[in-house]
Amino acid sequence: MEKRAPDADKPIPVLVVGVGHLGKAHARVYSELPGAELVGVVDSLPGRAKEIGDSLGVPSFENLTPELLGSVAAASVVTPTRYHLDVARELMESGVSVLVEKPMASTIDEGKELISLAKTHGSTLQVGHIERFNPVVVATYPYIQNPVFIECDRISPFSFRSMDISVVMDLMIHDIDLVLNLVNAPVASVDAVGARVLSDAEDLANARITFENGCVAMVKASRVAIQRSRKMRIFCENAYISLDYIAKTGMRISLKDGFDRSAIDFEKMASMEQAQGAFPVFTRYFDIQQLNIPSDEPLKTELDSFLEAVRTGRDPVVTGEHGLQAIEIAVKITEDIRRSQDDYLSRRLRFLDRQEAETPPE
Ligand SMILES: NC(=O)c1ccc[n+]([C@@H]2O[C@H](COP(=O)([O-])OP(=O)(O)OC[C@H]3O[C@@H](n4cnc5c(N)ncnc54)[C@H](O)[C@@H]3O)[C@@H](O)[C@H]2O)c1
Repeated sequence: MEKRAPDADKPIPVLVVGVGHLGKAHARVYSELPGAELVGVVDSLPGRAKEIGDSLGVPSFENLTPELLGSVAAASVVTPTRYHLDVARELMESGVSVLVEKPMASTIDEGKELISLAKTHGSTLQVGHIERFNPVVVATYPYIQNPVFIECDRISPFSFRSMDISVVMDLMIHDIDLVLNLVNAPVASVDAVGARVLSDAEDLANARITFENGCVAMVKASRVAIQRSRKMRIFCENAYISLDYIAKTGMRISLKDGFDRSAIDFEKMASMEQAQGAFPVFTRYFDIQQLNIPSDEPLKTELDSFLEAVRTGRDPVVTGEHGLQAIEIAVKITEDIRRSQDDYLSRRLRFLDRQEAETPPE
């Protein structure tokens, strides 16, 4: 069935499928957006949809019915990742546009199928890479030119959710999408290490992504950390930008206009640093700017932007292709982690064998 075109001057009728931890927030935001009419919430867990539907004053359902599918133009798919394809297929086949949470799908093939379904049915397909709408990230866009080196940290205590995917697909995928978008060049290579700790898949991972334009991104993710931290540092040719998503702060440091390295008397500056401390010396050469971060709620901006794409038929900010590229890099990272684990085991065995051979018998 072809995409259902929403009425230009009426709120878009929307649905949220999966109202667990994040889907509950999708439903709340739609219920507050003037451009949306939340028609209902769906959750296969008995009682869950009713709890959320009652709290928002909207009907609740345990599954998608033909009447429900016929009454909406757009929907958020916020089920665990392994169900994204099946749920989104049912919606798109009924002419409904979808925002599919990240990671878009469990595998590359499933991601491709989602893109192909959207094309066949003319549905808008947006992927829930919410950090693109985070005001902390958005505030940096005017300043980022030719990133040379990027560092991302995304660590959290164990949540016991998203157990169907690894930390690479669960957390690191946010930063993979951000760096792919910031660097905007093909990936040349990926090197990664990681480990399983509590779950059946990687719970911590460290990856180095090298781009064909020379930029390198070091991306770290853990879901077995004691504390929560979300940081990004971007070194550009002309400036350094440091972001803290939790503190909602951003800082840009750049060399002062007219900076002349050859004019620095390093010996004199070293003794000045001893006498006055590092800051006065540093600020002689660098401008430090605190970025102005608006207090917008990223989910609200994201869903508003999705509705705008549905209404206008324009490409969403985060397309299915973006979601697929992020999965492709996540898969490469995971493969490299597994290869490096095999490497580690064979090196370790060889090392122990050598030690044993070199130990004189007692
Ligand atoms: N963008 C982000 O920052 C972000 C953050 C958290 C989670 N997520 C993503 O959102 C999705 C959901 O994560 P969560 O933490 O809310 O999980 P959750 O387990 O808290 O909620 C999932 C809900 O979906 C329901 N469900 C399962 N299968 C269903 C089906 N076939 N039909 C209808 N309902 C179904 C479950 O009963 C549950 O209530 C995952 O893809 C996850 O990766 C994204």
